[in-house]
Amino acid sequence: MALSWHLSFVLVWNFLGASAAIFTLQNKCPHTIWPATLSGAGKPLLVNGGFQLGPAQAATINAPAGWSGRFWARTGCTFDQSGKGSCATGDCGGILQCNGAGGIPPVSLAEFTLNSPQDFYDVSLVDGFNLPISIFPSGGTGNCRSVICKADLIRVCPPELVVVGGNGERVACKSACLAFRQPQYCCTGAINSPTTCKPTNYSQIFKRACPTAYSYPFDDRTGTFTCTGANYVITYC
Ligand SMILES: *[C@@H]1O[C@H](CO)[C@@H](O)[C@H](O)[C@H]1NC(C)=O
Repeated sequence: MALSWHLSFVLVWNFLGASAAIFTLQNKCPHTIWPATLSGAGKPLLVNGGFQLGPAQAATINAPAGWSGRFWARTGCTFDQSGKGSCATGDCGGILQCNGAGGIPPVSLAEFTLNSPQDFYDVSLVDGFNLPISIFPSGGTGNCRSVICKADLIRVCPPELVVVGGNGERVACKSACLAFRQPQYCCTGAINSPTTCKPTNYSQIFKRACPTAYSYPFDDRTGTFTCTGANYVITYC
């Protein structure tokens, strides 16, 4: 009896310890942001999809084993008491808690697939950029490299890709795919493969600023980002 209780305790502890992950979202920007998350098909929604995070604040989010999904952050938002409003970037239908709705691109993305059987993660600028975003694994085993995209891509954004906010300020940078919807930028049509879809003069601007992020759909990054049993810090700015 005592032994079997002990055994199941150890099994449950191992299961929990090896599987679920804790995400810590840190706002290092000098302004408030509104982090948001969308889960993969069939995966549970975390933190109702979004919340507000002031400068120097952090929030922790528990993700269950096998979770997949993405994080981004909205900027320039105003919400009323009921959580309705709008954002200059990353808006998810004008609500504070995105609740399963995606964000309007361009947004910088941190993407995760946990326990498959390792965790896979990346930063994607495939649709564009709105905020610097980095991923720091902690406590895991394996490769576990940090993915750092701290450059301000809005400053080096070509004029034809710039998104201007309501107050005339530059708020985001579209990818060439998002801006022009052409096969050579989106890797669609006849060039829908890693061998045929090449970097372009636009994707190279993103790549120079953030070498470990995806800069176009079939970008070959230096190494695959995998880790096992880690928690993850996601830093904005
Ligand atoms: C990229 O190349 C296209 C096509 O050659 C050209 O029209 C465009 O001006 C270039 N843009 C930049 C930012 O170099």
